Amino acid sequence: MKLLLGVLALITLVVVVTLVTSKSITIDSPRVNIPGQGAVLGSIAETLWTKQTFYSFRGIPYAESPSGELRFKPPVSRRPWQGTFDARNFGKRCPVITTVGKLNAEQLAEDLEDCLNLNVYTKNLAAKQPVMFYIYGGGFYNGSASDHPPQHLLEKDIVLVVPQYRVGALGWLTTHTVDMPGNAPVMDLLLALGWVQNHIHAFGGDPTRVVIFGQSAGAVMSGALLLSPKTPEHYFKRSIVQSGAITASWGINRTPLAQVKRICEALQCEQCADKRVQYECLRKVDVLTLLRVTTEESFSPVIGDEQGVLPAEPQTLLRNLKRTVPLMAGFTKHDGTFVLATLYDTLVARYGSISKLTVRQLANTLIDLGKDSTSLSNNLLLRMLFKPNILDTNNHTAAWPAYIDIANIIYIKSPVIAYANELQRRGAAPVYLYTFDYAGEHTRFGYEFGNSQYPFEGGVHHSNDNIYVFATHKLNANDTQIAKKMVDLWYTFAADGIPKVADQPALSIQAMASESGPYFHINQEVSVDSDILTELTATVDDPESYKLIRTSTLPPALPPFVPID
Ligand SMILES: *[C@@H]1O[C@H](CO)[C@@H](O)[C@H](O)[C@H]1NC(C)=O
Ligand SMILES: *[C@@H]1O[C@H](CO)[C@@H](O)[C@H](O)[C@H]1NC(C)=O
Ligand SMILES: *[C@@H]1O[C@H](CO)[C@@H](O)[C@H](O)[C@H]1NC(C)=O
Repeated sequence: MKLLLGVLALITLVVVVTLVTSKSITIDSPRVNIPGQGAVLGSIAETLWTKQTFYSFRGIPYAESPSGELRFKPPVSRRPWQGTFDARNFGKRCPVITTVGKLNAEQLAEDLEDCLNLNVYTKNLAAKQPVMFYIYGGGFYNGSASDHPPQHLLEKDIVLVVPQYRVGALGWLTTHTVDMPGNAPVMDLLLALGWVQNHIHAFGGDPTRVVIFGQSAGAVMSGALLLSPKTPEHYFKRSIVQSGAITASWGINRTPLAQVKRICEALQCEQCADKRVQYECLRKVDVLTLLRVTTEESFSPVIGDEQGVLPAEPQTLLRNLKRTVPLMAGFTKHDGTFVLATLYDTLVARYGSISKLTVRQLANTLIDLGKDSTSLSNNLLLRMLFKPNILDTNNHTAAWPAYIDIANIIYIKSPVIAYANELQRRGAAPVYLYTFDYAGEHTRFGYEFGNSQYPFEGGVHHSNDNIYVFATHKLNANDTQIAKKMVDLWYTFAADGIPKVADQPALSIQAMASESGPYFHINQEVSVDSDILTELTATVDDPESYKLIRTSTLPPALPPFVPID
């Protein structure tokens, strides 16, 4: 049967005459017949550095629209279509307030939830290339395939697949009943991985060599896929985890039932204590209204969903994991500054300034946001990172490097190290660990609204690594060198399981031999180091860390400090 399907996968590069559109159709438009699904028409593009031709197939639907009766439900495979699907443009992104809030009445009347599509990029439709399956971040409420241009990675002989999965309330809400089983976005990715198994050979991909890689919330999603007993082992072979882990406190939503009730009430439905009422209320509400009442909510995977996607705590699943999956995991040097920026904004919105807080109060607020219930880590961090004589002052100037390290440790570095350790300890498969240290021209610090309001720099900020993996920015010569190294590292790990850089042939990056290392630095030169724990104090120990402090005059005293809940 499989052979027959293979033979049917007739790939044609022709002057296309299809039902797609009456507009001009370019010569050599790539057209792929996906057996059992339908034909797709793609477009042609060029890689950035060596101008190789590649084919883009955008917005290929892999699931039915999760709207109407299917809202909150596990995704359903897309029915086959007649004619040729026009895959020259991106499909709809999954609804987010910034996009949906701008639509006019006519656009709002469309099916906004029909976003379960995936993007395939390939240079060779007839080869058997490794497949890189990218899982975007976006805090579980945002993210889209269109934000990940492939012109860097396609320099390598791979097939890149960028699926979309549901985000925000439309994805994550659960009543822990069959109506709203929970973890639907993880199931979206499982269906997309199944699609890759069935169809990627038609695009020149080898379904036995799939690597999943994800950043931030996408890193957590990759962890959910690794740990889930619902994931067939052959769906992927290796995993890259960038700046996030399912072991993070923000990786799991521990109060989903209170959340669904709260949102039901915010929608002014009646009898919101009843789960069936919650479901009916949330299923019927229009997308824009639902997004509007949930802008302050946070979402993430839940434990114990009805489908058995995550049946137990991540640590338990990690310890009982039977699979052997080589891992490459890491973080950026100042991965937590985005958290610090958010906290800073919150405190300033509440008090007008942070000057009413002591260093100790601000540090404890930051640590407590990490939901550590003992104060052991608070005290230890205060002891290690601050000069004792500044703790009870409200002079924050000298404290920023320590705040940055606390944010780094709690939100990203420690969860990533913990995740790597759980897999390394089992000794079943190699685990590579990195820190991305390169400070280039561009940054994601304050990407949306600017960063001039902060008394500190973003440093090597969260998501800055992706500036080099994906072609999102116009890079200068030095930054391009880093991008080439990143693409080398990501590709060699994906293809061979060992990270390497072409312009440093003598460099040998080793997998972790203990829970501390070795690990490697990604910078102008990639280098190997021995103890990952030194990275926990990478900011305070850095002689250059004073550069992260923006000196500002302290504003006048304000009302007394009340901790944030
Ligand atoms: C979602 O991400 C896009 C970038 O793709 C950004 O422009 C937008 O502001 C984000 N929305 C929110 C609510 O953060
Ligand atoms: C605050 O700390 C900075 C850095 O240690 C120091 O230069 C400054 O004089 C201090 N300001 C006050 C008001 O004590
Ligand atoms: C590139 O790097 C070199 C040395 O590492 C430095 O001297 C130069 O200023 C950098 N150029 C840019 C544009 O960043």
